[in-house]
Amino acid sequence: MAGLNIGIILGSTRQGRVSPQVGQWVKEVADRRGDANYEIVDIADYKLPLLGEEDATEQATAWNTKLASLDGFVFIVAEYNHSITGALKNALDYARDSWNNKAAGIVSYGSVGGARAAEHLRGILGELSVADVRIHAALSLFTDFDNGEFKPADLHLTNVNGMLDQVLAWSGALKTLRI
Ligand SMILES: Cc1cc2nc3c(=O)[nH]c(=O)nc-3n(C[C@H](O)[C@H](O)[C@H](O)COP(=O)(O)O)c2cc1C
Repeated sequence: MAGLNIGIILGSTRQGRVSPQVGQWVKEVADRRGDANYEIVDIADYKLPLLGEEDATEQATAWNTKLASLDGFVFIVAEYNHSITGALKNALDYARDSWNNKAAGIVSYGSVGGARAAEHLRGILGELSVADVRIHAALSLFTDFDNGEFKPADLHLTNVNGMLDQVLAWSGALKTLRI
């Protein structure tokens, strides 16, 4: 649906991370569709300290303002110890209303496609009233990366586009609840 704003959220913040490569690829695939406004949202830019450890009003306001401007999300999910990164969990915890009644898709990566992290994320999204779509692109550290360089197999395009179809449909539908 034209006019929807979809944030592609980079879910890892460590130095040397590969999430920017994955996010950029998703954005290029999405932009070719020409059906929404897609933007990369990098958690690292918001410099969120661990929730509650110090006054972070300014960072929290900036993060919530960005989320509030978005109608839907694509999470770029790295698998750390069979779950999402601490940075992504912290960023999820920093907002509530600005997540609610929106849709999300997942692009994950790991030794088994980041599947375990993706499933953990789905549980968290339920609590935040984010409708996570079924189609999910799961990238392999073994076959879609070459020494840290992201080289996705073409077969993933089908799932990324299918996931985006669902995210746009549900983002448009859920927007009517927020007006
Ligand atoms: C702390 C840590 C834990 C990890 N645990 C897992 C894991 O449980 N399963 C897995 O498939 N990969 C695991 N990995 C490998 C990461 O998926 C891989 O390093 C990936 O590139 C991380 O994403 P990033 O580069 O965007 O940070 C782990 C990496 C780190 C740093």
